[in-house]
Amino acid sequence: MIRYVVPRLSEGVFSVGARDRDRRMFDAMVPLPAGTSYNSYLVMGKKKHALVDTVHPSFGGGLLGRINQLSELSGLDYVIMNHAEPDHAGALPAVMEAAPKAILVASHKGARMAKTFYNVADNRMLLVKEGDMLDLGGLTLSFIEAPWLHWPETMFTYLREDGILFSCDFFGAHTSYGICDEDVDELPMLAKRYFGQILLPFRAQGKKAVERLAGMNIKVIAPGHGPVYKNPEKVLGAYRTWTSGITEEKAVVAYVSMWSSTASLVDVLAEELVSEGIDVKLHNLAISDAGELAADLVDSRAIVLGSPTVHGGLHPLALNAMNMVKTIRPPARHGAFLGSYGWGGGALKAASELFAHAGLRMAGALEINGPPRGKDIMDVTGLARALAGRIRESGDGSRETGDG
Ligand code: FEO
Repeated sequence: MIRYVVPRLSEGVFSVGARDRDRRMFDAMVPLPAGTSYNSYLVMGKKKHALVDTVHPSFGGGLLGRINQLSELSGLDYVIMNHAEPDHAGALPAVMEAAPKAILVASHKGARMAKTFYNVADNRMLLVKEGDMLDLGGLTLSFIEAPWLHWPETMFTYLREDGILFSCDFFGAHTSYGICDEDVDELPMLAKRYFGQILLPFRAQGKKAVERLAGMNIKVIAPGHGPVYKNPEKVLGAYRTWTSGITEEKAVVAYVSMWSSTASLVDVLAEELVSEGIDVKLHNLAISDAGELAADLVDSRAIVLGSPTVHGGLHPLALNAMNMVKTIRPPARHGAFLGSYGWGGGALKAASELFAHAGLRMAGALEINGPPRGKDIMDVTGLARALAGRIRESGDGSRETGDG
């Protein structure tokens, strides 16, 4: 019989989720260098027991085993579904079958999704809204509406007596290592990377959530991915900054080069920006990691794109990077473009349209024929100085999103 390791968060709260050490991609677009975890928490009051979120369906068997080790699974009273995405709710059918008394607790939108995705019957659902409470006997769960973090139905669950916030995707980090924040040295970087890829598009909703949490007594944050925060203030502070769109004197330079001409322009620009005191983050798109790029976009004030012309437009990797910018909507204000073509341009025109669409003001652009020569070097140096000036002048004020 398997004896599971089940970390204890407090007297009545246990971490019963799963670690997916081998997974290397999420949603077929998010690289996972350290795998991920699907966190699920069992809250055992004196009278009732509740499971907060489940796990990816592939890990349902282990979840059932861990719950059974602590408490008779068939006696489970509630399953709280903070989020309907299958990495958290995919094992719901297995849990609801093994726990025939259990009632699913979800937001109104969540309940609809539970029915659509997981065939949960109406008579096994309890719909909750902001401020509703569930008494487990000595332990009380309350619910906080947190839409779009990261789907429209998402909510948080708060264990009042212990000050534990179960936040699902919000405050998450993709890693399969560690139990709490003190175990993982690279957690701040992993959390930023996660924020950039998953939550940056919902920055406005995230800001509201952070403000909503400000007055609460939060002693522990128990997210849906990655370690539990026993020292929540650090990640709360980081989220205050990231959701506000506060940027630094920093430029992301994302580029791709086929015959080194664009790369040569990028080198000159990067060195000049650095000499102007700008923090430059270079990403060669042919080899870079999309998670690292997303993390750098969280607080960069400028985005420089470098691309040769391919078939009259941007190189596919540059186009992909700009699509990512369009999708995750980083707070950067300024843009610049560098590129080279063999016999006919077009990349600059394509980039200009995408920059405008992303709300980036073009500080300068250079599209040259063939490898750079003396005048090109002078032009790119001038462009770098102009961009550095814009970056410094625009200060660290936040850029609001257009989201409602
Ligand atoms: Fe971790 Fe939106 O699911």
